[in-house]
Amino acid sequence: RKTITIGLLGMGTVGTSVVKILTEKANDISQKIGMPVNIKKILVRQLDKARNIDIKVEFTTSIDDIINDPDIDIIVEVMGGMNPTKDYIVQALVAGKHVVTANKDVVAKHGQEIFEAADKSKVDFLFEASVAGGIPIIRPLKQCLAANKISEVMGIINGTTNYMLSKMANEGLDFNSVLAEAQAKGYAEADPTADVGGFDAARKIAILASIAFGSRVSIDDVYVEGITTISTEDITYAKELGYAIKLLAIAKDDDRGIDVRVHPAFIPAKHPLASVHDVFNAIYIKGDAVGETMFYGRGAGGMPTASAVVSDIIDVARNITHNANSRILCTCFSQKSFCPVQN
Ligand code: NAP
Ligand code: HSE
Repeated sequence: RKTITIGLLGMGTVGTSVVKILTEKANDISQKIGMPVNIKKILVRQLDKARNIDIKVEFTTSIDDIINDPDIDIIVEVMGGMNPTKDYIVQALVAGKHVVTANKDVVAKHGQEIFEAADKSKVDFLFEASVAGGIPIIRPLKQCLAANKISEVMGIINGTTNYMLSKMANEGLDFNSVLAEAQAKGYAEADPTADVGGFDAARKIAILASIAFGSRVSIDDVYVEGITTISTEDITYAKELGYAIKLLAIAKDDDRGIDVRVHPAFIPAKHPLASVHDVFNAIYIKGDAVGETMFYGRGAGGMPTASAVVSDIIDVARNITHNANSRILCTCFSQKSFCPVQN
């Protein structure tokens, strides 16, 4: 073998940045892996759309064209959505391709089926970019904190709403204009209802809670309230009283059971979460041995998200070159021991 070959699904905000990192850092990445990474094919919806890339690559609208290509080692899914994406991921795994994704919708809803398919085919399935954009959080939780019993995961895990709430607080802008800004910057989901309605954060906290507590938490187990009813006036009054309004995602595991929720909350102005502005995310994790740890960084946007995607690609590629599969198999997704706190 002389190269690692990629089939990319999607070439929007994240896909374009993945191509940029893989091309601009080709030499560094090749040194890290021991051989170059080559993107052979890219799946898109519209073949005639102008694409701002400077590499020789085949665009296609046929998933079979990618999955049945024997040269392709890793399929990188950054097209988003549930249908047909979940089927494409499962088909790729069944065909023996390693898969890297940034798709929290699919992992939160179909994690169990996907992990089982990866396990059966003995391939890697990595999804670091699916939660909190560029912040390393899936691996730290699953691997670096494995010695701990985790009792709490809590924080700001949606960049769009944090950007909006920050702008509304600091510049007095209204909800619709700051949402339009977040969309223009590529932070928001294709359907921004997922962001402002709290569902994007709910999917992410369901994934984190499943890993943290070793118990499958589905999106339906999460109490969800978004920021659609919050006005600039609410934020101004909160500020006058010494608070910031933030959309929090909270998962707790104690004697009473597991409690997972997403809702706006008043945060005292001096609390560290009150100073998490713009598209930044911050996540506290409480473990019995480590105590409290905090993870902070850009939670959305093309380059931060592509940082996590390309790092996963490098990880899979290293496993391929060493003939080792170290996929993060979350058995938690196949256990249904979730036991909600009774309110
Ligand atoms: P995007 O800008 O809307 O790009 C989606 C791309 O996928 C486009 O190139 C589109 O093709 C292609 N596509 C969509 N549906 C397709 C289909 N059915 N068949 C073939 N191609 C299809 O999306 P994005 O912002 O890059 O997000 C991609 C994924 O990353 C999502 O799962 C999202 O949740 C996740 N994510 C995004 C961010 C972020 O900040 N944007 C951060 C973390 C995770 P055309 O170009 O032809 O339209
Ligand atoms: N729409 C998401 C957000 C993208 O704003 O956080 C990152 O997952």
